[in-house]
Amino acid sequence: MRILAISGSLRAFSSNTALLQAAAELAPQGVEVVLYDGLGGLPHFNPDLDGEPVAPAVSGWRSKLRDAAGVVFSVPEYAHGVPGVLKNSLDWVVGSGELVDKPVTLFNASPRGTYAQASLTETLTVMSAKVVPEASVTLQLLGKPVAAGQIVADPGMAAVVRSALEIFAGAIETIKTAR
Ligand SMILES: Cc1cc2nc3c(=O)[nH]c(=O)nc-3n(C[C@H](O)[C@H](O)[C@H](O)COP(=O)(O)O)c2cc1C
Repeated sequence: MRILAISGSLRAFSSNTALLQAAAELAPQGVEVVLYDGLGGLPHFNPDLDGEPVAPAVSGWRSKLRDAAGVVFSVPEYAHGVPGVLKNSLDWVVGSGELVDKPVTLFNASPRGTYAQASLTETLTVMSAKVVPEASVTLQLLGKPVAAGQIVADPGMAAVVRSALEIFAGAIETIKTAR
């Protein structure tokens, strides 16, 4: 199954992106974690532009979400909220509905970002995504420069990430069967 991974940070040395890159390397058998790298290329959401034809970047974003069995988000907290670029991407799929009934979970590279986690959970819930809290993990990366390989090579962190992906994959199967 394919899981789409979305980092809410555009920073080159983002700890959230590193966490998701590590998840791609640690994915259990039968699970493929694919990072979405188009967040920064989406236009600003404007309801006037949300009709056919939409911008190619938007249709690409929507089809990647449609094709994914589930979505993992890892987002930093900015001023007690989610980064605008991440919220902008979600606004583009409120009307088109790609996240409706989609299994989603939240990874977190910093235990400090509680407002952003709560806010993102609320937004995903109101968009009718199926939030899977038991697959959510928090690592103590705290925005420090870290390479995905360091997470993969750390037995403790690697086990946490792998286990979260196994739990998420199991939840995706359960949600699919219940439909
Ligand atoms: C503009 C800005 C605002 C921030 N606001 C908060 C905040 O309100 N609460 C918090 O815990 N951290 C805040 N931070 C710190 C980041 O959330 C933290 O460094 C995060 O781990 C960076 O993620 P990244 O490494 O993926 O870019 C802020 C950082 C920036 C650049």
